Formats: sequence, structure tokens, C-alpha cells
Amino acid sequence: MAERKNTDFDRPGGYAMPKGATQVHRQAAKAMIDADVRLYGDSVEVHQPRQIKNPAPKYQAVDPDTRVYVGDCRDVLPNLPDKGKVDLIFADPPFNWDVPYDQWHDGMPRAEYERFTFDWLDACIDALSPRGSLWVNIPDDTAAEAVLHLKRRGVTMINWCIWHFRFGQHRDSSFILSKSHVLYFVKDPDNRIWNSNEILEPSDRAAIYADPRTMAKETNKGLRVPMDVWYGQYWGRIQGNNKERRHGHHNQIPEVYLERIIRACSNEGDLVLDPFLGSGTTCTVARAIGRRSIGVEYSPVNAESAWDRVINVGMVRMDAALGRSSAIVQPRRGKREKGGTLFLAAASSGEE
Ligand SMILES: C[S@@+](CC[C@H](N)C(=O)[O-])C[C@H]1O[C@@H](n2cnc3c(N)ncnc32)[C@H](O)[C@@H]1O
Repeated sequence: MAERKNTDFDRPGGYAMPKGATQVHRQAAKAMIDADVRLYGDSVEVHQPRQIKNPAPKYQAVDPDTRVYVGDCRDVLPNLPDKGKVDLIFADPPFNWDVPYDQWHDGMPRAEYERFTFDWLDACIDALSPRGSLWVNIPDDTAAEAVLHLKRRGVTMINWCIWHFRFGQHRDSSFILSKSHVLYFVKDPDNRIWNSNEILEPSDRAAIYADPRTMAKETNKGLRVPMDVWYGQYWGRIQGNNKERRHGHHNQIPEVYLERIIRACSNEGDLVLDPFLGSGTTCTVARAIGRRSIGVEYSPVNAESAWDRVINVGMVRMDAALGRSSAIVQPRRGKREKGGTLFLAAASSGEE
């Protein structure tokens, strides 16, 4: 008897939502503004930003305009002359994991930490231009609260990505931590800066299966927008003797991660902002690829080191991951296509 396809379970599109994920998020964004969502951090008083008239950057350069401010981002952002004009924000906050940052105390009571998170998220939303996007790098224990807060503020989720890294700290009491959440929200899903062509990579159809259908496409033959789980060579945590490493900094993000976001969500000359600058990754990459940028950093020592990186070191892995396949199996025998650089082959060089 011929096999009957089970259309209840094997829906065309598999895990794709029939209406489209963005459509569903868009509807949720409207509904959530009126929802009575309460979170633990709501029990703590909202931070009242200090009034700073014409805040002065501690460091500044031109072509493209690059500025670093020293202070608490909850105070700096509301006073910026660029408020409401920022095209892209990338935020990688302290996780409240007792990291010995130079100045910032990374061990608040939980409710205070949630309030802190909501306050800087609010400052970021207010700083964004109408077409702007907000990206947040956040761990398991705060991702849910951050998403709920952003949703109740009425901004729309476009993607909930995962940054997957290897070499997490060993433990045997539970699975080893190997990811961070990368949230992508916008003010207006119908009118946002999005350059998919800037970040394409070879599809698995091209890189593994040499499927002729992908090469027969009118445009972008064999290419696709990357998936929402990010990994591969140069995508690992920056530590040890990695050539990107800036000593004295914690949780440095790889350049390829920022390059993907900045190329996808801003154009040359646009304004990019990082409220937790750390070692300066965001401004370094933004400046290298022609974006204006603002960094805010609480510690004067970190800010000085970040500025040294932005101006004197610069980006060291420009385009290193662009256009590389993220396939995790070797090409099928006899189907190795020319031009598709496989992550697997490259990964044998040892640098994650
Ligand atoms: C996780 S690190 C950022 C790392 C950065 N993404 C990188 O690639 O180097 C967080 C940074 O935020 C700074 N910071 C903490 N609280 C802050 C605040 N309220 N305002 C501004 N900076 C803050 C810390 O000093 C630290 O350098």
C-alpha cells in the first residue's frame, strides 16, 4: 500500500509558522502593551536619571564620529543629544554573576537586578530611532524577564537568536553552559533597517548536498541568511591567547558576532550605540566598517582600554566569518562544490 503522508504532523514548512513568525510577534506586541504583566523587579523603585546638560564624551574621534562616555548608562542615555536618533543598539550587560568588574558591583539582590535591567532597557528604547533595532546578549536566568519587559513596552521581537560557544566551564551536575540568548527587537517591524544581502552564507543545500535547485535561483545562488543559532570558527568566547583578546576585560564578545549584527541592521554612516562597552568590541567593529558609534562604560579604566583598542588596534578579523558555510557535516561524497568553505574543514585549525 502506498504510504500516506501525515499532513497533520508533517506540515509543509515544518517548524515554520504558517502566518510567519514576525506576523505573530507583531500581534503580540500590540496586545502586550495592555496586558497586566508583573515581574519581580517591579517591586523596586524606577531609577531616576541624573540630569546632565550637554554630557561630554571622555573620548572622541571623527570620520566616522566615534564617542565614549564614562558613567552609568541609565544616566548617560537619557541626556544624549542623539536620543531618539540611534539606529542600532547592542547591549551586553553585567549578568549579576559576581564578576569582578573594575568598578561595577555585579551582585545585586535579584529584584534590584531586574529593576536595573528594565531601566536600561527603557533607556535604550527611548534612544532608538523609529527604524532602529535593539539587540541584547543575555543569559538563561534573565532572558525570560528581559523578553517579557520588552514585550510589555510594545517593541516587536524579530528573532530570538542563540550564540553557541564551546569550551564552557566544566560541570557534571547538569548540562554544560554553551550559549547566550541574543534578542532582536525593533520599534517598527514594517520599517526597520535590515540588510540581509550583507550577511549571506552558503546554504547546506549548496555546501553539503550540491543541490542544483539552489544554484538555479535567480539571485543569491547557493546562499541564504544565516540561521538563528550562531556558531563556528571565530565565534567562540574570547579567551587565552586569541588574537582578539583584550586583557583585563571580562566576557569579551567576538568581532564576528558584532560584525553580523552591525552589517545586517545598519548602513554606512548610521549611528550604533553600546551602553556596556567593556573592551570596546562594538565601537571597534562599527568604526572599522564605517558606522558612527557611541559607547558608554561605567569604569574609567575599561573605557580607556576600550578607546585604545578602537583607535590603535582596530578590528583584527574583518570579514573573517562572512560568507562561510556553517554546515556541521562534511559534503556528501562526490558533491564537494567549489567555493563553499566548510566550517568543519576550517575548524580543524583549532581556533573556535
Ligand atoms: C559584559 S561586559 C561587556 C563586554 C563587551 N560586550 C565586550 O565585548 O567587551 C559589561 C561591561 O559593562 C560595564 N557596566 C556595568 N554596569 C554599567 C552601567 N550601569 N553603565 C555602563 N557600563 C556598565 C562593566 O564595567 C563592563 O565593562
